[in-house]
Amino acid sequence: MENEIETRFKALFANRPAILAPMEDVTDAMFRAICRDRGADLCVTEFVNCEGLLRGCRIAKRKVTLAPEDRPTAIQIYGSDPHRLVDAARVAEAANPSYIDVNCGCWVPKVARRGAGAGWLRDPEAMVAMARDVVKAVSLPVTVKTRIGYGPESHMPIVDLARRLEDVGVRVLTIHCRTAEMGHTGAADWQWAARAREVVGIPVIVNGDINSAEAAKKALDDTGCAGVMVGRRAIDHPWIFREIRALLDRGETIPGPTLAERLSLCREHLNKAAMERTELGGVRASRRYLSGYLRGLHGAAALRQKLVLCDSLTGCMDILNEYEANMPNAHAA
Ligand SMILES: Cc1cc2nc3c(=O)[nH]c(=O)nc-3n(C[C@H](O)[C@H](O)[C@H](O)COP(=O)(O)O)c2cc1C
Repeated sequence: MENEIETRFKALFANRPAILAPMEDVTDAMFRAICRDRGADLCVTEFVNCEGLLRGCRIAKRKVTLAPEDRPTAIQIYGSDPHRLVDAARVAEAANPSYIDVNCGCWVPKVARRGAGAGWLRDPEAMVAMARDVVKAVSLPVTVKTRIGYGPESHMPIVDLARRLEDVGVRVLTIHCRTAEMGHTGAADWQWAARAREVVGIPVIVNGDINSAEAAKKALDDTGCAGVMVGRRAIDHPWIFREIRALLDRGETIPGPTLAERLSLCREHLNKAAMERTELGGVRASRRYLSGYLRGLHGAAALRQKLVLCDSLTGCMDILNEYEANMPNAHAA
């Protein structure tokens, strides 16, 4: 009989999930909760360095600590040494995530040049062997997130890799449809996810440039993939998840968030961030999110400008309250 972990894991991918992408310094527990409240079906932690995890470093430990309500969430690990990844996967497993994801897609030179992240794409043979070892080492399901190739291969390795990763027991493959050399530039080519999906039985998740509900539907229709993963657009617009769900589940295009919702999320974010860090640290860390939450509002540029110059929590709240009082009926574009 199938165990509970297995049943739950399969259910995660049964209904075309909209997944919050792992993003360093972005997808912490607080932001995961924000996205989950707005429809994200599944979240992945920021990538966790396997050396940091094995040394018991404070940051790595915090990244793998999952509160009971922070579910379903996968832990993503990265590293270049297969033995260390195996050990790190065991440590991550003890934190009881929904599954363990191995990062084979990070293009950042300090990671990829050392053979971690997308560096694995330079040696597909080694990548498959590493994945096999990690799969064998833990009882939780193991997934891989990667890119279509390192670049500029004339023939992208992803299709062959998909088959071989499935053969060694990888349970889901997420494909960021760019090469490592592309970084975040140029358009993601979803057709690679379609080609990989055709040759495997495991779920393939399409990632890259899913920046609206319509894009999510098109990516799924074009590729036949099992789900979508959303990265950068979620930072500005975490409501994308409920918009995707409405379109996929009910065929509905729902309106964007109201002014009240946008301001309320700004307040929620500021309050929680200040509580988790210091007041100053929380206010500053919130800025990158607030400008996205406010985008499209009448007078947003001036509002953002005021917020950027304000270091106190009450000051930010006053600015938001004053804006709201002067814009009672405004709706986001
Ligand atoms: C700020 C930032 C941090 C990221 N950190 C990670 C990470 O820790 N692990 C990972 O697999 N991908 C990471 N990525 C890549 C995203 O998960 C995603 O694959 C990429 O942004 C493409 O999706 P998008 O077009 O929806 O943004 C990061 C991307 C950004 C913008």
